[in-house]
Amino acid sequence: MKRTKIKTLLATNPAGQSVKAEGWVRTFRNNQFISINDGSTIQNLQAVVALNSIDEQTLKRITTGACISVTGELIASLGKGQAVEVKVNTLEILGDCDAEAYPLQLKNRPSLEYLREIAHLRSRTNTMGAVMRVRHAMAYAIHKFFNDRGFFYIHTPVITGSDAEGAGAMFRVTTLDLNNPPRNEQGQVNHKEDFFGKETNLTVSGQLEGETYALALSEIYTFGPTFRAENSNTTRHLAEFWMIEPEMAFYDLHDNMQLATDLLQFLVKYALENCTEDLEFLNKRAAEEEAAKPQDQRSELGLLDRLKFVTENDFQKLSYTEAIEILKNSTPNKKKKFQYLIDQWGVDLQSEHERFLVEKHFKKPVILFNYPKEIKAFYMRQNEDNKTVAAMDVLFPGIGEIIGGSQREERYDRLLKRVQELNLPEKDLWWYLDLRKFGSAPHSGFGLGFERLMLFVTGMTNIRDVIPFPRFPGNAEF
Ligand code: 4AD
Ligand code: MG
Repeated sequence: MKRTKIKTLLATNPAGQSVKAEGWVRTFRNNQFISINDGSTIQNLQAVVALNSIDEQTLKRITTGACISVTGELIASLGKGQAVEVKVNTLEILGDCDAEAYPLQLKNRPSLEYLREIAHLRSRTNTMGAVMRVRHAMAYAIHKFFNDRGFFYIHTPVITGSDAEGAGAMFRVTTLDLNNPPRNEQGQVNHKEDFFGKETNLTVSGQLEGETYALALSEIYTFGPTFRAENSNTTRHLAEFWMIEPEMAFYDLHDNMQLATDLLQFLVKYALENCTEDLEFLNKRAAEEEAAKPQDQRSELGLLDRLKFVTENDFQKLSYTEAIEILKNSTPNKKKKFQYLIDQWGVDLQSEHERFLVEKHFKKPVILFNYPKEIKAFYMRQNEDNKTVAAMDVLFPGIGEIIGGSQREERYDRLLKRVQELNLPEKDLWWYLDLRKFGSAPHSGFGLGFERLMLFVTGMTNIRDVIPFPRFPGNAEF
């Protein structure tokens, strides 16, 4: 007999039909009631074995975590809590699970910190199951959003010879023998003898390569892993994260902001409409976590309310200069409550400032634009004031920066001057500069951090819990 997924069985009209279900045992009560989960849904299937119908030896092997296969009749449930159940005819143990050694016993709910240490098993928990089903739905919805608008999905390289952000925090890629690398006459490591004949690294962003296709196919996006070797041990940074980077010819900064707003609202709405059960579970879980916090640190809205709020309200648009004025005169700045005090125009904003604007001042998502050029990347379009660039960051409650983007500098002379001012390797950027020589066009784009989006949508509070196997300083287990 063919197996049916539990999600399908639970939605089937029970008429005593023969069915087969397979999955992992969550609980086994009274030697009779087995609740099975196969991950197709957060709900468990109840399988009921008649007393004395199964031999003693097998019964003992039905333990939490064991994998089993049952066949039987699908009937309306006699008990409370579920609509249907399976009256078991045959039961087979597919994989035993030693109850003593299994780390996921329901009795003592494991902490998220502990679960990270057993990331190969945390997939079996309700929380990780819900998070990963939502993650899948968001990945699908991203492709749907762009496909419906005629954007093309471009695969940019993972290994590159360029540093898109000019920030320098990159993972090297080499096949040289680190104990005995070839050296040139000056005694430096000779990368001419390396695999690619030059220095290479894991990409920090697909943007620069993405731009080459935007200036040919008009509207493109990338969606892939990106790598940052910064030593950031925070709840919002990963060393390996996924980024969505749309890049559009003929868009100015305002078109760019509109697309970012449309994308975020579409994704949140998609989650609300398509991940109902999982979001309800996560809503409850977030509420319990909130309740354990001191009163003044609790957020005013629950998860589902926060999600609805984003879909129903415009984002606040605000220039960097206006933001600095607000922050300068804010109570936490005057009372020296900020760790980094805002004293002058030109300083970079920290997450405490971003969160003040979003959570305390405007109480809604904020898009900041026109940042000082000194604190932004070389490729951003220079404004006429000679001080600012056409940059934009989207700031979300509880997260801070969720999107970073800009209109790009499309004027060859201006771009070249900036590359030189910043001492960037002109010889590595020759192809990027070429784009401005051969049919340049105004264009814009942004990067959405996929895991930052996941934090917002699931209400989880640590970015390490919204990716299956997090990579962060000191950790590359699994
Ligand atoms: O602001 P960032 O560095 O921008 C870029 O990389 C541009 N090339 C994007 C573009 O214009 N095409 O990164 C973009 C987003 C951030 O807003 C944040 O959401 C996420 O990527 N991000 C991270 N997410 C997790 N861990 C990290 N270490 C991250 N660094 C950035
Ligand atoms: Mg940024």
